[in-house]
Parts: sequence; structure tokens; C-alpha cells
Amino acid sequence: MNAAPVSPAGAAPADSSAAQVPVIAIDGPTASGKGTVAQRVAAALGFACLDSGALYRIVGLLALERDTDLDDGPRLAALAARLQPRFEDGQVLLDGRDITEAIRREDVGRAASRVAAVGPLRAALLALQRQQRRPPGLVADGRDMGTVVFPDACLKVYLQADVRVRAERRLKQLIEKGYSANLADLLQTLRERDQRDQTRDCAPLIAAEDAKVLDSTTLTVEEVVAQVLQWYRGL
Ligand code: C5P
Repeated sequence: MNAAPVSPAGAAPADSSAAQVPVIAIDGPTASGKGTVAQRVAAALGFACLDSGALYRIVGLLALERDTDLDDGPRLAALAARLQPRFEDGQVLLDGRDITEAIRREDVGRAASRVAAVGPLRAALLALQRQQRRPPGLVADGRDMGTVVFPDACLKVYLQADVRVRAERRLKQLIEKGYSANLADLLQTLRERDQRDQTRDCAPLIAAEDAKVLDSTTLTVEEVVAQVLQWYRGL
């Protein structure tokens, strides 16, 4: 979804031989660096980039704004079926409204993690995600890219990092953006979200059997990107 509108759910795939289009799936827990790595790998290869977490965040935001029960499968699925977000130049637009900042809020992240456990919502978002598979290729990041959405991805990476290091990275990001936050709260939130993502019945966060597991605790973003590119070029 790099600088490209997302096709509305139900639209025809961009390419009938979509299955031939290479997909690099990057999954892992919250704040493991997946998003940044996915964007840089996509840029290096000239591929599109799907930030699947943004879709769950958008549904979380809408559910909060509309006072929708975060467990209400049919209503959440109906919300998702109508979603036509646009991802342009780093901005996220929904019905002409700029929601780039709003979907990054911590309360929206928590709501996203709640709605993401709802099976009918996950099913409703499947087509939208798969439609992003267009030539010359796609880098998709999330929790279930390699296990559910693109099980035939040519490269699956499971990116993990120590929870304390992830909390410190998230704190730094928030402070750089001018938000106030503290490490203890972030640690607790990350642990809760990890727990919910890993133990839910539907598409739990788990490394695909054929995924390459990469621990970024002591690695820089550049080192992680270089490793992913090396794996891809060595296929
Ligand atoms: O990746 P990000 O933190 O933006 O995702 C927000 C939430 O959406 C995650 O906590 C997770 O619960 C959910 N999610 C998911 N499956 C994905 C991507 C995100 O369940 N493929």
C-alpha cells in the first residue's frame, strides 16, 4: 500500500495471475520493527507494501468513534466490508479524511488488538489484503501474512525482539513525535497485546512453519533489511 490507493473489497484482482506475483511476508509481535523493515525492503525491490495492521487500526478507530462493541463480529465485518482507505505519500485517508495520526494512537492500537480477535472481521479483511498482490511484488507485514493471508509467500520472515527493547523503541518513537509516554505503561501494553495476539483462536500470532525467524534485539534496522534482502535474492 505504498503510495497507492487500496482497492475496495470486492473489486477484481489487479492481475489474474496474482499467484505468480512474489510476496515477502513479514510477521511478528507489536513494535518488532516490521513496518519499517517492510517499507525499506519494498523500496529496495520496487515492490508495493501492505501494512495490514493499519487496516485493523482503521476498524478500531471507527469502532471507537461509533461506539461499536469491540466484540461485535457482524457489525465490525460490515464496517470492514465498506472500507476504502487510501495510502498515499505516507498518509492514510478514509473518505477524504486524514487519519494518519489518529490510527497511531495507543487507544486505537489497543482497540485494533481487540477487534483483531474477531473472526468475522478477519474474514472480511482477507480480500482487501489479497488484492494488494500486484506485479512486480508485495511486501506484507502483520501477524498472519505467512500463515493465513499469503500462505504461498516466497519468503516468510518472523521478526521478533525482546519485549523490553521493543518498549524502549516505541517510547523513543513516541517521544520523537512529541507524545508523552512512560516505559512501564508501554511494557504492560505490549505484553497484553502480545498475549492477546498469540492466544486468540483466529489467526494467532505464530511463526509459519516455513518462516525464517530473525531476532532483531541487537540488530539495527539496516542489518535486518540487509538480511531479508539477502534471503530474498538467494531464493
Ligand atoms: O501492526 P500493528 O501494531 O499496527 O497492528 C495493530 C493490531 O492489529 C495488532 O495489535 C494486532 O492485534 C492486529 N493485527 C492482526 N493481524 C495483522 C496485523 C495486525 O491481528 N495481520
